[in-house]
Amino acid sequence: MKKLGNKIVYELYPISFMDSNNDGYGDIKGIIEKLDYLQLLGIDLIWITPIFKSPKNDNGYDISNYCEIDQSFGTMDDVDNLIEEAKKRNIGIMFDMVFNHVSTESEWFKKALEGSKKYQDYFYIVKSNDKVNPPCNWVSKFGGPAWKYEEKFNGWYLCLYDKTQADLKWLNPEVREELVKVMKFWIDKGIKGFRFDVINVIGKSGKFINAEDNIGKSFYTDQPIVHKYLKEINKASFGNIEDFITVGEMSSTTIENCILYSNPKEKELDMVFNFHHLKVDYKNGEKWENKPWDKKEFKRLIQTWQLKLQDRGWNAVFLNNHDQPRINSRYGNVKKYWFESSTLFATLIFTLQGTPFIYQGEEIGMTNPYFETIDQYRDVESINAFNEMKAKGMDEKLILEILSVKSRDNSRTPMQWNDRKNAGFSDVKPWIDVAKNYKQINVESQINNPNSVFNFYRKLIKLRKENEALFEGKIQFIDSEDSLIIFKRTTFNKELVSILNISDQEVCYDVKQFKYIDILVNNYKEIDLKSIKPFQALVLEIEK
Ligand code: NOJ
Repeated sequence: MKKLGNKIVYELYPISFMDSNNDGYGDIKGIIEKLDYLQLLGIDLIWITPIFKSPKNDNGYDISNYCEIDQSFGTMDDVDNLIEEAKKRNIGIMFDMVFNHVSTESEWFKKALEGSKKYQDYFYIVKSNDKVNPPCNWVSKFGGPAWKYEEKFNGWYLCLYDKTQADLKWLNPEVREELVKVMKFWIDKGIKGFRFDVINVIGKSGKFINAEDNIGKSFYTDQPIVHKYLKEINKASFGNIEDFITVGEMSSTTIENCILYSNPKEKELDMVFNFHHLKVDYKNGEKWENKPWDKKEFKRLIQTWQLKLQDRGWNAVFLNNHDQPRINSRYGNVKKYWFESSTLFATLIFTLQGTPFIYQGEEIGMTNPYFETIDQYRDVESINAFNEMKAKGMDEKLILEILSVKSRDNSRTPMQWNDRKNAGFSDVKPWIDVAKNYKQINVESQINNPNSVFNFYRKLIKLRKENEALFEGKIQFIDSEDSLIIFKRTTFNKELVSILNISDQEVCYDVKQFKYIDILVNNYKEIDLKSIKPFQALVLEIEK
């Protein structure tokens, strides 16, 4: 059995990590420069979001060649060097496999446009003379219809994301063979893991039927055939590699499917990302409306996913990534409790069952940048949403307020290395603005401060790796009021309890009921045995 609980994965968004050649964009050499920093933090794997050739309409998730490096990031030699240098530090590299769709600038799509029947069969193309009404009413995840008319096809092609991201026809075995070749190419290079982008939406039947909800998700999400495809690619590529780690990003998924995706006996993937706990601030499922987060629902979701996957599947545990606003700005309170809320959420992910994933900048408590104008935004989804809300007649001030809370750009601002120009990310103006708080929040000011967020993360990582109860133990939740999440982690000879206050209010609680032997984590200086302070995180070793 693979040991997954003591691996810590660091998600790195290369365009915003470190710019080595001062062109305003982060690059591979920049990552290499910072490997010592990542080693100091204590992580095991770096998941790098796509650095493959791409026109970058969706920041690299629109890949035009899976086996070529985009020159804006560097060269294949740089990648070889990165793999080698990372290996010297016991760090593996995980690449992002974006296989639901491919860029319309890829050779495959270009050949399809030139009329090749072989390559037209790589895509979902529906011939039609009707250039106004798409084959069905499914909508794109980035707004508008999930279809684009293409004169050269004399028909429509399916694109669930941007119009330049054409959905690949997994139904065609040749497509699956091509993708296996891509994986083998990277495995041979020494890549140690794959993160599969929106992998649970690959199972389209080829029949396009109008959806009653005018959205269409149920027709293409978690279709039974996805399990067959995953078993097939597992067997044909990464399945038998001992120390290889795979994680699937699952969009609007179910627990039942995630058990299958991540149960080792099924031979599909090692673990799953689900996003339900990051939608508790959506109003009736609508992202582009602000609503205070629902703590009770958050707690219920964490608890349910932990318990249902226990012994049956495996969670990738995370609260931040490149598509999500920063958790401390979002569910925490960065004005009043910046340190406390940043470290509270860290303690949650490092003490739950699963594999913890942290996202660049999280380890120093980076926050949302609070952009004020639309030209500060770069993200295609955010810009489309802005235009759609404007077209509906919404007030621009309100739209900008929503974006400043919900936009994906909130997590994509440059890494804050120091308090100098452009936060030390680049000598020139970066592709996206740096958050204004970089003078207070940056790596340099935290690295040697034992009480910093950075060193809190280091301690948590060390604690996790040293305690079997944390990386392998059972989890059991203890009833409490909505603002507290309390759970025990247990192995045969040790028991720990996490007591986490997810609110900005002090909550009465009898800590003494646990006969504790040691305080392993406390993000306050003191411990009050009768109450838990705002965003306080306690981890205690207790008598078993
Ligand atoms: C999920 C990725 O995380 C996101 O950034 C991207 O836009 C979509 N998949 C489409 O590839």
